[in-house]
Amino acid sequence: MATLREKPRIRIQLPQEMVTPPPGGMDRRRFMNWAGWVGVLGSLGVALLGFLRFLFPRVLFEPTPVFKAGPPADYIAGVVDERFKGSQRVWIVREEGGFYALLAVCTHLGCTPNWLAQENKFKCPCHGSGFYRSGVNFEGPAPRPLERLKIVLAEDGQILVDKSVSFRQERGQWGNPGAYLRL
Ligand code: FES
Repeated sequence: MATLREKPRIRIQLPQEMVTPPPGGMDRRRFMNWAGWVGVLGSLGVALLGFLRFLFPRVLFEPTPVFKAGPPADYIAGVVDERFKGSQRVWIVREEGGFYALLAVCTHLGCTPNWLAQENKFKCPCHGSGFYRSGVNFEGPAPRPLERLKIVLAEDGQILVDKSVSFRQERGQWGNPGAYLRL
């Protein structure tokens, strides 16, 4: 009589780390899932940072070189006006026929000269250079006159000074358009 033979049992011994969950209770599959997400999110974060840097490049935002200096009627003929010396390093000089703007930067080494009304001259406190009211140098080590700046009348009737455009007397530029505002 045939007897049922028992099937032989095959036992496979798995490595211990595949059988027991890692410390903390996370099994291998969940850990790989988690690590994958960390990788994806990390890559997205880096890409986002790069994009933000593209939107906001590292540049210096300097103040505009153009400023309005009020209506011409605010100025007195024959007076060197110092109201913009502190904020803009600019003097505005009114004559009978018009205006010019002088850059308050000594042409020797860049100090800020002072206007000495009693002596009718600009005097640099650093090494003693002197400039006439016109801006022309006459004493001390300054090698050339002060620079004049573009001065025009804006549409709203105010004086407008553009410090990005300068005129140099030794180059014959004081007669150029914009170097003098005639009124
Ligand atoms: S910087 Fe003005 S005289 Fe030297």
